[in-house]
Amino acid sequence: MSTNITSVLKESRVFAPSEAFTQQANVSAEERERLVAWADKDPDGFWAAQAESLHWFKKWNKVLDWSNPPFAKWFVGGTINASDNCIDRHLTNGRKNKAAIIWEGEPGDTRTLTYQQLHREVCKFANALKTLGVAKGDRVTIYMPLTPEAAIAMLACARIGAVHSVIFGGFSAEAVADRNNDAQAKVVITADAGWRRGKIVPLKENVDAALAKSPSVTTCVVFNRCNHPVTMKDGRDVWWHDVMAKASADCPAEQLDSEHPLFILYTSGSTGKPKGVLHTTGGYMLGASLTHKWIFDIKDDDVYWCTADVGWITGHTYTVYGPLANGSTILMYEGAPNHPAEDRFWDLIEKYRVSILYTAPTAIRAFIKWGNQHVEKHDLTSLRLLGSVGEPINPEAWMWYHEVIGGGRCPIVDTWWQTETGSILITPLPGAIPTKPGSATKPMPGIAAEVVDKDGKPVPANAGGFLVVKRPWPSMMRTIYNDDQRFKDTYWSNYPGVYFTADGARQDDDGYIWVMGRVDDVLNVSGHRLSTMEVESALVNHPKVAEAAVVGRPDDLKGEAICCFVTLKQGNDPTDDLKAALKAHVAKEIGALARPDEVKFTDTLPKTRSGKIMRRLLRDIAANRVGTGDTTTLEDYGVLAKLRADEE
Ligand code: PRX
Repeated sequence: MSTNITSVLKESRVFAPSEAFTQQANVSAEERERLVAWADKDPDGFWAAQAESLHWFKKWNKVLDWSNPPFAKWFVGGTINASDNCIDRHLTNGRKNKAAIIWEGEPGDTRTLTYQQLHREVCKFANALKTLGVAKGDRVTIYMPLTPEAAIAMLACARIGAVHSVIFGGFSAEAVADRNNDAQAKVVITADAGWRRGKIVPLKENVDAALAKSPSVTTCVVFNRCNHPVTMKDGRDVWWHDVMAKASADCPAEQLDSEHPLFILYTSGSTGKPKGVLHTTGGYMLGASLTHKWIFDIKDDDVYWCTADVGWITGHTYTVYGPLANGSTILMYEGAPNHPAEDRFWDLIEKYRVSILYTAPTAIRAFIKWGNQHVEKHDLTSLRLLGSVGEPINPEAWMWYHEVIGGGRCPIVDTWWQTETGSILITPLPGAIPTKPGSATKPMPGIAAEVVDKDGKPVPANAGGFLVVKRPWPSMMRTIYNDDQRFKDTYWSNYPGVYFTADGARQDDDGYIWVMGRVDDVLNVSGHRLSTMEVESALVNHPKVAEAAVVGRPDDLKGEAICCFVTLKQGNDPTDDLKAALKAHVAKEIGALARPDEVKFTDTLPKTRSGKIMRRLLRDIAANRVGTGDTTTLEDYGVLAKLRADEE
């Protein structure tokens, strides 16, 4: 964390949006000031006015019920449907023949769905789900490649009030089983396989292994994406195309309570199993659509591309719900950025005349490494706005994004948020705020984000502190599925009534926020959250491992690399083969994204006298840093000397 602080302190460049951009922006600087002041003075009135932009079957009678914190209820008494807001209203507002989804598969196959066509597919699939016994409130797992069917499945669940739990296709069978069981999912929607870097990802095979351990699941729907051979189990597995062939296209959207659960999305915390973050309908849809409209400055003729997979919150809010609620045309691309070559993204932007690109710093760093020649081959003049999300963006990566991709003319929105926050909370509004490379700038109007010390007091300018949010906001998570206590303990116990983000940050003299990264034991690997605990648990359940400690090490490409210190049970040799086997084991338990970058064997781990592993020391060793921190509580100094010696 200290390296981040020093590097950002040196950053003094400021980039104001161009006159041309400002003039057409959805929110001007003056308008932003007005919105911020209004929201601070009268939050309920502010949010109620914004919520008018959604379609409600019945209006709410109370904006916010905060009588039982931290359990918020927004737009109490209102009824609404996310699928109706994303599709049906565009059938009557002149957009029915507008492209909703332009999709390209990794092999180069393409499809376009207009809003009218999307409506038909979603209605049919919603009816198919009903036929399979899915009712309002039932949980449905979606484990799909990034195809239009993934979005169709999500919207079909939303249409009938079923709660989706999307699992990223890179997660393992074990991870799918765990999530099925936690959510007590009734149906799993998957595909035979998906394409990734020219290879098949065998999704159905993983689901088969997961379903052997998921007793709640009665049915599995399989979309045929790759013509990859699969085993269909009689009485359990059905083909997507078969159920669709029989389904009617008439399926009015359910009128759901504003607080009806829309989805569960599992994310890593510092302790224990992944948390099922629960989002509900009205507030989430307001957060998603409003932020998308203001931050991405969306216009009707934009081609908007968020590169995130729907397995992540970014894919939920900014690939599916936000843009479709605003009637945008979205680009969706199934595969890897370097297949068949390193210019695939630039090729797509040129081909579809993408005007807004939203991607992650880890991808930007990979593009820099691959070289400008891949970019220069393509005409990127259609771009007018760029976005970044997932981790702090290094100022130099920001500059490259600005100059090489944005041609110096596109504002960059560095957007800070979390699975838990549902939508972006800290960000520039692109026509309203001059940007500084590496800063997410200021909170959205209505968001009471602050940097405080351990007692909850605001810290002076430029001093580091904890990022918190002092007022509830509509798209905030409502609880951890089936674990209200963990929800309270994790987010609301540090400061009563205040949301704790677990990120460190500072504010500069202009009030700009610089997010420095996590202060808990959560790793940010390529913009994805993983807990050190989960990786440790996976290692320890290997028969040869006695104990494991996992820490992050700064990595130029991935942000953080996963570094594991492992002690073996007696009688096992610390061989390279075993290192490789342990890496494969973690990948099998959690998924390829958790594969350790480094495994180090050690006889003992540095612990305090009370037995806690001193990760701080291990972090220093992993990063090859000379630790300056306090080691007086260390039980055995010899351990540290030995680990350092091994390193040299
Ligand atoms: O540490 C912050 C980092 O990502 C965490 C949230 O991860 P996740 O729930 O997976 O959501 C990622 C996409 C919203 C945060 O606690 N983070 C996210 N965006 C930024 C960021 N750190 C710095 N700057 C950002 N723009």
